[in-house]
Amino acid sequence: MSAEIINGKQIAEDIKNELKDKVEHLVSAKGQPTLAVVLVGEDQASKVYVRNKKLACEYVGIRSLSYELPEATTQEEVLALVHELNERDDVHGILVQLPLPAHIDDDLVIMTIDPRKDVDGFHPINVGNLSIGHDGFVSCTPAGIIELMKRSQIEMSGKNCVIIGRSNIVGKPIAMLMLREHATVTVTHSRTKNLSQVCKQADILIVAIGRAKFVTKEFVKEGAVVIDVGINRDENGKLCGDVDFEDCVEVAGAITPVPKGVGPMTIAMLMSNCVKAYEKK
Ligand code: GUN
Repeated sequence: MSAEIINGKQIAEDIKNELKDKVEHLVSAKGQPTLAVVLVGEDQASKVYVRNKKLACEYVGIRSLSYELPEATTQEEVLALVHELNERDDVHGILVQLPLPAHIDDDLVIMTIDPRKDVDGFHPINVGNLSIGHDGFVSCTPAGIIELMKRSQIEMSGKNCVIIGRSNIVGKPIAMLMLREHATVTVTHSRTKNLSQVCKQADILIVAIGRAKFVTKEFVKEGAVVIDVGINRDENGKLCGDVDFEDCVEVAGAITPVPKGVGPMTIAMLMSNCVKAYEKK
């Protein structure tokens, strides 16, 4: 049996089209939704991410304001910019691309963003709201994973979900979201004993550890859903996930590819959070 390949690219396109329609209907009454994007320094990967986010904004009808600041920008200057954006009525969302240069405290910058404009869902208020089941902004990759499964008619309630990775951006929030969907959740990490055996119990296996092709078919139960959050380069420089796709596709029931799986969903959910911030205003 070969797994169903979940088309994240197509589902992300559907979401962006729905948001585009919504924005078109609201814009004459409410003005244009606006996302401020702050990038500090010369990190090449960050530049690519930011460019893709701005292109998605343009597609959906969200105005993006770009603040591309030199590496030498001080922490005080970044904080002053965030304060200014917090105050502006015509800015609905604020995104500060991470990582920031080493001389700037990421946590302090995130905590300075008004939680109502925190479309990344990184502010402790939004993280707290997620963990107690209150409304707020949910970080985009985990929100995208849930949406991907819902739109693929994957049942989550009562299922055994194993997560590999405990990061603040993916592992911890996806655990909270899977609990909200009534799954039974196990979070594993680099010190988990018998990792492959634990993973083999999963009906839904979510992998976010940042190691190319780490998960092989020995980790996957027959028919399981495998969600791959990784973006790595293999030994030939080709883009690949944390899951060995060719190996696992024969065993899994459904699997996300890399690229065109979870990645496009992250940006679609950022757009969704921007529209939510705008609607609430
Ligand atoms: N760096 C890597 N992923 C992200 C993200 O989702 N948001 C921000 N702001 N920075 C990132």
